[in-house]
Amino acid sequence: MPVRTLAHLSDLHLDLTPESDAAARALVGALQASGVDHVVVTGDLTHQGMSVEYRRFRELFAPLLDAGRLTFIPGNHDRPGDDAGSRWMEGQKVRVVEKPGLYLVCVDSTGPHNRNYFASHGELTYAELDAVDAALAAAPRKTLAAVLVHHHVLPLPEESFPERLATLLGWPHAAELPVGPEWVTRLQGRCDVVLHGHRHVPGERVLEPEGARPLRIYNAGSSTDLGRFRVFRHKAGRLLGEPAWCRAMLSERPRTAGHNVLPALQYLVGQIGMALF
Ligand SMILES: [Fe+2]
Ligand SMILES: [Fe+2]
Repeated sequence: MPVRTLAHLSDLHLDLTPESDAAARALVGALQASGVDHVVVTGDLTHQGMSVEYRRFRELFAPLLDAGRLTFIPGNHDRPGDDAGSRWMEGQKVRVVEKPGLYLVCVDSTGPHNRNYFASHGELTYAELDAVDAALAAAPRKTLAAVLVHHHVLPLPEESFPERLATLLGWPHAAELPVGPEWVTRLQGRCDVVLHGHRHVPGERVLEPEGARPLRIYNAGSSTDLGRFRVFRHKAGRLLGEPAWCRAMLSERPRTAGHNVLPALQYLVGQIGMALF
């Protein structure tokens, strides 16, 4: 069996600005130069869920899309506006994409509440976890089984003042998926890797590293903001070593719209005002 490669990107937040377009072009250039076999993008492709933003994504990533080398899922930022992201899973919360050597279980962790730009948290039901279990049970032997999901499954530190404030006030906006920690326990021994985004600072966890089938959880972070992405090497259903970071040639480090703090602060002040008065 040949050694294959998988690239993981997330949180592009394409917002039709020259900066986000340039960052995406640089990422696509680096992906093509790396010759990676397949690419996954784990949500927040657009910034406001607008159809025109999604069209821009399709234009920029056409070389990979046209070759059938790209799989993507929605994130919370793909649900406001025109709700572009609601159409990407073809009406399913869980679906499987199979590629040579790869078995991708795509999970939509967004909900109707994400139509509100600032209600950013994810949700999954136990029935949807059951559907993931069933999908993983059908994975062929000697393929790498990966779960793609936008929201983080385990607690992660807040990354901004609005997130810290929301947590302080007991709001769910910055929290991990409510079923996340329990879900991770269920996934152990059933799949090899969980790939997610949502939080813009990358991270990784390896559970049971000495076990027969360790579960590796990777957060790509915001690929347009970072200007880099991880590349995994795998063979016969096994990851080979640690993933390598591949850097895109950005003319300058962009500041994606996903990091704008002012609108979030305005929202929080409004929420607090409503609670008090
Ligand atoms: Fe994001
Ligand atoms: Fe997100």
